[in-house]
Amino acid sequence: LVLPPCDFTVFGGTGDLALRKLLPGLYEQERRRQLPAGTRIVGVSRSELDDTGYRDLVTQALFDHVAEDHLEAGALHRLTSRLRHLTLDAHSPEDWDRLHGILKSDLVITTGTDTPAPDDRNRVFYLAVASDLFGPICDRLDDLGLVTPQCRVVLEKPIGSDLTSSRRVNDAVGRVFEERQIFRIDHYLGKESVQNLLVTRFANVFLEPIWNSRWVDHVQITVAETLGVGDRGDYYDRAGALRDMVQNHLLQLLCLVAMEPPTHVGGAAEASEDAVRDEKLKVLRALAPLTGREVDRNTVRGQYTSYGAELGHPSTTETFVALRAEVQNWRWAGVPFYLRTGKRMARQESTIEVVFKEPPHAMFPHSDGVTTPNRLTIRMQPDEGMQLHLTAKHPGPGGIRLHPASLDLTYEDAFEERSPEPYERLLMDVMRGIPTLFMRRDEVEAAWGWVEPILAQWQDTALEPVRYHPGTHGPAAAARLLARDRRFWQENA
Ligand code: BG6
Repeated sequence: LVLPPCDFTVFGGTGDLALRKLLPGLYEQERRRQLPAGTRIVGVSRSELDDTGYRDLVTQALFDHVAEDHLEAGALHRLTSRLRHLTLDAHSPEDWDRLHGILKSDLVITTGTDTPAPDDRNRVFYLAVASDLFGPICDRLDDLGLVTPQCRVVLEKPIGSDLTSSRRVNDAVGRVFEERQIFRIDHYLGKESVQNLLVTRFANVFLEPIWNSRWVDHVQITVAETLGVGDRGDYYDRAGALRDMVQNHLLQLLCLVAMEPPTHVGGAAEASEDAVRDEKLKVLRALAPLTGREVDRNTVRGQYTSYGAELGHPSTTETFVALRAEVQNWRWAGVPFYLRTGKRMARQESTIEVVFKEPPHAMFPHSDGVTTPNRLTIRMQPDEGMQLHLTAKHPGPGGIRLHPASLDLTYEDAFEERSPEPYERLLMDVMRGIPTLFMRRDEVEAAWGWVEPILAQWQDTALEPVRYHPGTHGPAAAARLLARDRRFWQENA
């Protein structure tokens, strides 16, 4: 598939996301020569930088964030020569005219000469800025006549800060772009291991018959980070872990675990774009609402003790959430889904644990040893892979001794290819116009609809987060949430 040249414009072009993820993602595509010929990348920000200054900034970021053995002089040169920077004050019509000038010209990259652009260039506008700016930016792009049918807009999460503001943002963007042009990114959907979850579930036959309330005892989803808020305090302190992680990444993972088999996954046909998203939406709509007292009982809100000091002022924002959810449908009735996420935790770990029930009949009652329930561990990071925990016979004569054992699949050992970074994969999908791994408006709003009463109850009860020490598994209340159900978090060493 030969793609037309693309003008890739990043609003927030000097921000953390652009420098740590987007430009390294574009660099990897450049390295593999996948960027369409003639592609230009325009970083837009308020920083007073010229093109050379921006190229230097990006080069430094690539040195910092790209794997050392991937840094190649040729690819670096090719990528940086595509870059331009525009200092933009959103209130200045002259600055917007300059953006128009850049995008309506056909920059011959090697010589820097501008000539008129053919109108069939793909245009991608990546909005890596606060979501209340999405609408105003789209309006300006529209006023300038920059929005054509082959344009796409990428929206970073969180979209809004509750259901009402999310609707407002989606309405504003929707007045300028058609839904098919809007790519709402959730980078978790670009992780290899997350996509492999779909393949494992649906390209094999052995799991599906037991993937239900008859055989599954409960599901745990953990996304733990060792990092703190770093220099994103401004954004993070307004968002908190529920908005930053649960409303999007964790609920998306829950959907992929719980959804019914879609009719197809992947492929270019329009029907397949929606097949997965339709199924995810059904799960979101089947989540039992947590409201009022149920919120008090089923959620834990935590904050690491050094958060205020890191931030520079006291705060009641949560940096940790644990909660117990239920999917009210035939397949999952009565099966708890425990979700937790936090910063400054003991280990960096993103895992899904599907814990199965005990065998219906205890056949080895007098055996020496332990039985542990079967469990499927899906490791998203680090060490992407899967582990199926079984009980085996301990070798040796005499009586039967039961012993835990496991089947392991580590991607690094099983496949030679490196897993692409999520942004690298997703940016390619944007350029190709494949929206399957992006969130549809109804999904985002259904997720907000479920999260909002939790936020409301925390606010109404002025719930202070419970403190936890950095480097731990979070507050003790999170362990109690499961202990109450006679369960415990699986801590993988
Ligand atoms: C982002 C959140 O969406 O995901 C960050 O805004 C978080 O707070 C990050 O650190 C985690 O992503 P990953 O891929 O490193 O697990």
